[in-house]
Amino acid sequence: MSLLEINGLSHSFGDNLLYKNAELTLNKGEHIGIVGQNGTGKSTLIKICTEQVMPDAGRMIWQSNISVGYLGQYAEIDHSLTMKEFLKSAFLRLYEIEKEMGALYEMAANGDMSYLVRAAKLQEELERHDFYSIDTHIEQVANGLGLLAIGLTRPIEQMSGGQRAKVILAKLLLEKPDVLLLDEPTNFLDKEHISWLADYLSRLENAFMIVSHDFAFLDKITNRICDIDNNTITKYYGTYSEFLKKKTLLREDYIRQYSTQQKEIKKTEEFIRKNIAGRKSKMARGRQKQLDRMEKMEALAQKEIKPYFYFPDLPLTNTEHLTVKHLSIGYHYPVLSDIDFNINGGQKVVITGFNGIGKSTLLKTLVGQIPSMQGIYKYSEQVTLGYFEQDLSWLDETRTPIQIVSDAYPNLVIKDVRKKLARCGISSKHAMQSIGTLSGGEQAKVKMCLLTLTPCNFLIMDEPTNHLDVQAKDSLKTALMEFPGTVLLVSHEEAFYQDWAQRVIDIEKR
Ligand SMILES: Nc1ncnc2c1ncn2[C@@H]1O[C@H](COP(=O)(O)OP(=O)(O)OP(=O)(O)O)[C@@H](O)[C@H]1O
Ligand SMILES: [Mg+2]
Repeated sequence: MSLLEINGLSHSFGDNLLYKNAELTLNKGEHIGIVGQNGTGKSTLIKICTEQVMPDAGRMIWQSNISVGYLGQYAEIDHSLTMKEFLKSAFLRLYEIEKEMGALYEMAANGDMSYLVRAAKLQEELERHDFYSIDTHIEQVANGLGLLAIGLTRPIEQMSGGQRAKVILAKLLLEKPDVLLLDEPTNFLDKEHISWLADYLSRLENAFMIVSHDFAFLDKITNRICDIDNNTITKYYGTYSEFLKKKTLLREDYIRQYSTQQKEIKKTEEFIRKNIAGRKSKMARGRQKQLDRMEKMEALAQKEIKPYFYFPDLPLTNTEHLTVKHLSIGYHYPVLSDIDFNINGGQKVVITGFNGIGKSTLLKTLVGQIPSMQGIYKYSEQVTLGYFEQDLSWLDETRTPIQIVSDAYPNLVIKDVRKKLARCGISSKHAMQSIGTLSGGEQAKVKMCLLTLTPCNFLIMDEPTNHLDVQAKDSLKTALMEFPGTVLLVSHEEAFYQDWAQRVIDIEKR
């Protein structure tokens, strides 16, 4: 029996149809990657599986008595605990057993052997579940995801959104549920943690379904791909690369069959038109009947809107643009000290390295969002900054993209606002929908749109490819390549920048 079986699934938001009579099965040991363009309904599918969204129609059967662990695209968590307490709660059942065992041993002190036998049984169970190495286990996972560097005693309320998501992921991995459901887990991880996670997941015996636009990652961890396209969910066996090949072949095949059928239809119609009133009238009517009965293939929908990003620039010289000297960064204490580097005008630079705290702290310091702890950073006078922040956070989730852009640029007339949004891949329907209900990729495109509205000559971007689908990533890559100004980028996706970045500064290995 399958772990999960979904049949006849249909769902839409207003007139935005996501799936029509779709199906999906998850079997034991399957490692599924869920892919599709922004807004096709990947996160919604995961929410349907976890019963956060009720579909319009469909039957979903989970095998009974299995545990399911879920991490959403924007994670939330109880703030009052420390990281260690939270991670330990993954083993709640074992701690309860330990308590019970302790009580039994105490009672056995009176000489009653039966307590002792029961206590020994519990002890065996604890040993079987590696109870006595929980601390080591916690440390291994926390280290793999870069959490040890933050400190296990750190209260969760003092952690950033990305760090919290890591903690939730760590707990899920420790719990080892029968089925893991993860929505874009690489968005808040650095390169080295992604590679640790990929390694961990590829060795996992339990089943999982993971949404991701990071194909290098999917290629390492999945043996099935579920592609959401054209309102259906298609399952492919094999890796992501194999899926791409198969999908292209199937598509070409379909287009070939479709065009053959179209030719056939045209020829028949021509015959009918010519002969319906003549000598061969009977034959023509026969052909008409044939034509009516024919199962007609539908043309492939062309609803893909590839966004086009363009960053208007300002003049600059290729002299020193940014100087960083003996800089220490951090919140309560320095997480990194003595950072030194220079960037010249027009250089395209990627920052990599240093575990745990994330490079976002450095970028936030450089744009003046948080104060530096020591040392200096200085821009040349000609610099005008543009900043793309990692988090998707909005002052008011009920505002629509049109309102958000108009608030930021009151001089733009609505027609132009719509045009700018459309260029960035936001349809007119989505432009009028509250931002909180847009998909991750759609929100990221609105954010990108805001950045394309003010000319600058120095772009600072923190993981800009998060949430973006293949087409959008491709457009962003072209835009950055063509931008004559300076670019300072933090990205975990080497494939995104390796063709155009001129310099990689590894903050750890200076
Ligand atoms: N509560 C809602 N009300 C209205 N529309 C919604 C709501 N939730 C999602 N949508 C729309 O449904 C579509 C699918 O959303 P979903 O978040 O599932 O996309 P996704 O495939 O996960 O995209 P991404 O790759 O950008 O994360 C989107 O176009 C989104 O705007
Ligand atoms: Mg999503």
